[in-house]
Amino acid sequence: MSLRIYGLQAEQLAEPLGVDRPRPRLSWKLDSDRRGAAQSAYRITAALRRDDLGEPGRLVWDSGRRESGDGLLVAWDGPVLQSATRYHWRVEAWDETGAPAEPAQSWFETALLHRADWAAAWIGRDPAELPPVDPPGGDDVAGADLVPPPLHLRRSFELDRPPVRARLYATARGIYEPRLNGARVGDRELAPGWTEYHRRLQYQTYDVTGHLRPGPNVLAAVVADGWWSGYVGFDPRRAARHYGDDPAFLAQLVVEHADGSRQVVATDAAWTEGPGAIAGADLLMGQIVDARRHVPGWDEPGPADGFRPVAVLDAEPGPLVAEPDHPVRVTEQLPAAAVQCRAPGRYIADFGQNLVGRVRLTLRGAPAGQRVTVRHAEMLAGGELYTANLRRAAATDVYVAAGDPVEVFEPRFTTHGFRYAEIDGHPGDVVAQVLHNDTPFTGRFECSDPVTNRLYDNIRWGQRGNFVAVPTDCPQRDERLGWLADAQIFAPTAGRNADIAAFFARWMRDVVDGQDDGGAFRDVAPVVTLDREAAPAWGDAGVIIPWYLWRTYGDRQALEHAYPAMKAWIAHVRRHNPDLRWRRRAGSTYGDWLQIGADTPREVLATAYFARSTAIVADVAAVLGHAAEAAEHRALHTAIRQAFVDSYVSADGTVAGETQTAYLLALGFGLLPEDLVAAAAEHLAADIERRGHRLTTGFVGVPLLGPVLTGHGRPDLAYALLHQDAFPSWGYSIRHGATTIWERWDGWTEHDGFQADAMNSFNHYSLGSIGDWLFGRVAGIDQAPGSVAYRELLLRPTPGGRLTWARAEQDTARGRVACGWAVTDDRITVTATVPPGSTAVLELPTADPASVREDDRPVDTQPGVLRAGPSPSGLTVGLTSGRYTFTAAAPLRETS
Ligand code: BGC
Repeated sequence: MSLRIYGLQAEQLAEPLGVDRPRPRLSWKLDSDRRGAAQSAYRITAALRRDDLGEPGRLVWDSGRRESGDGLLVAWDGPVLQSATRYHWRVEAWDETGAPAEPAQSWFETALLHRADWAAAWIGRDPAELPPVDPPGGDDVAGADLVPPPLHLRRSFELDRPPVRARLYATARGIYEPRLNGARVGDRELAPGWTEYHRRLQYQTYDVTGHLRPGPNVLAAVVADGWWSGYVGFDPRRAARHYGDDPAFLAQLVVEHADGSRQVVATDAAWTEGPGAIAGADLLMGQIVDARRHVPGWDEPGPADGFRPVAVLDAEPGPLVAEPDHPVRVTEQLPAAAVQCRAPGRYIADFGQNLVGRVRLTLRGAPAGQRVTVRHAEMLAGGELYTANLRRAAATDVYVAAGDPVEVFEPRFTTHGFRYAEIDGHPGDVVAQVLHNDTPFTGRFECSDPVTNRLYDNIRWGQRGNFVAVPTDCPQRDERLGWLADAQIFAPTAGRNADIAAFFARWMRDVVDGQDDGGAFRDVAPVVTLDREAAPAWGDAGVIIPWYLWRTYGDRQALEHAYPAMKAWIAHVRRHNPDLRWRRRAGSTYGDWLQIGADTPREVLATAYFARSTAIVADVAAVLGHAAEAAEHRALHTAIRQAFVDSYVSADGTVAGETQTAYLLALGFGLLPEDLVAAAAEHLAADIERRGHRLTTGFVGVPLLGPVLTGHGRPDLAYALLHQDAFPSWGYSIRHGATTIWERWDGWTEHDGFQADAMNSFNHYSLGSIGDWLFGRVAGIDQAPGSVAYRELLLRPTPGGRLTWARAEQDTARGRVACGWAVTDDRITVTATVPPGSTAVLELPTADPASVREDDRPVDTQPGVLRAGPSPSGLTVGLTSGRYTFTAAAPLRETS
């Protein structure tokens, strides 16, 4: 095979149904068995082809042959796109010899591109028509008084023939589930997701052709409070109703017939609203279903008891945007690993994994009116649920049985973070449904050490549990906010595991929207509860994440969009800190949040971040072609760096505070003069050694441990921390049963038990940011400093610790990258995969550079190998694309 084209995406999604960008960007990846394979040219053609109407294709765009090695985010250059139209596109590519690859095709469909396309009005409950429904069983149901019933909405309509094509465009102020003729539409959860609703509200597009039939049809929806008017965050004055008091719905069904005629059913005064089985639903509090109140056939053609006209709230749809990223879905079902009876009728199920989602409960033979309560917890205390750390999140689901032989309870308008669920009232079969934004998990790390593999799994679970609509800090207590520092610290790890390009680009719009006129970002996005200037390392996410998206995915648009906000952020810090030490206007200045026993001086941390962000803005300016602004920020960076050294660094390389994090920031952000680097690295190493190989870092320091120690000649210490299982360490939590990353090192300890309940999540991803190092240095996948989207790989496998092998792979924006190593006796084997068009520098660790072989032949005689030369750790080999397996004399083991 020459070149294989795969992974076609429009706007960073495979076959998206609702694209509303005027010039969607098209991408593809490449694969090849052949060394040195690369794309030399491509051609994109796009056609309008109504398969459903049996129309022949009509070519609408031909890019012509373009000499280019990339298939990265190529902007649509054809005619202006029409609304609600499917475009079929096809890529041809030629390799470096001029040979053509097998063409590949895909499609995207446009959403509703113009205001005039919308005929729908917002509808909601008419308070005059329907009194609020009482919660079932009185007020003894946890949280019931706090949780209003969702809307049950319906609209009948007639079709005189089967449609050839039908699309539903829908959104809500709240969260909604659409239904057609008694069946759920699609598999999205928690739609429309969470954004700065007043600025952008996402709508979803569904292909509902198969749901419709000639004759009477019913379009229906359940709409719960969600983030719009439900509980989120912890603000005691206004924990709910951040955006509005009540939920509302907006939808438009567009039915097309073979003759080209259309029928539109939109939300309007013809809809009705009525009672339903769901008596209450809230993201944090839980869901209450009284199955006795189910109105049979409420979402099907025919009469529906108790349904009355809705109120039309607003004819203006508002700031609608098409959903631009992977929606939340159920991605896995986990059966209970163990179930224990705690008292008559009361059971505790252990799913063996701390996860985010809900429990699906199947009851058999429950009598009518029997109430079953499902409570959730991450941990047990004395054999019972430990729920004190949930704070005011009731996380309690209630089901009142109808008395049917088999009944299924699956709360779909709430999520919980839990490993354990208590079922009280009637026994049932339980399954945990795992849900999160369905970003494709295409990367993986693996090694010979089971504890490290468990750590890696814990990191992945933390990512799954906290990528729910926005990157959240934690998924269980009354918080679940998009904290900026947590996100920027973890993003590099997240991007190893999954394709997070669209997810983060979308959230970055909220981050930028949150910025105030003075240039200050907020600590959280979307901004609820905490409308205050961001702290150092928190606000810096506004600079760091767009840069990360550019470097990792080549997303220039993300940079262009954020660039003005990035500059304004730097200007804000500078304006209030003319001496370039960031001491004023540092928001809540959290410091090295949740460090353990070594507080880093706030201004050291803040000034280090000020320098780092300024350097990034200089790089961004250069990439975007703003030379003067690049030079200006470069000069500012030099001055901040100087201020940092003058104020906080001593002649012997000591950094003020003398904490691990102080050294990590100074070294990791390149703030020290060359002649002090070695001394500072020694101070860092000495601190770790003096503490018996223990870390002291909090959120801010922790991602730098592995990279800085490895980069300064002490991978042995990085491995010692990785393998440490005495308190505090990752290993300690794993030894005590952790299946996710804990918020704090001391979340639970042998000496003190549980930490203060007020802040003790067992599913926070920040301290899992070591994952980036597992991929980057342990297995060895990285890219060169100036490289974009893994064009120039830096492969630096680093054997160490008690590992005998490690490997990682990642599906990058260009194609598959892999690197791994295995040591047996006195030999090391190193494998590498470089995608077509990329090159790599492989630093092959060996005690004897002359011993490196592939297929028993000297390395520099091999196809694809560009050059080879000695390096401090062994041999440096330049590679073109292809798959490689080298063997060599094993490196000498580090001793520490
Ligand atoms: C959150 C965070 C966040 C922090 C700010 C906590 O309540 O859970 O992870 O970054 O506050 O200090």
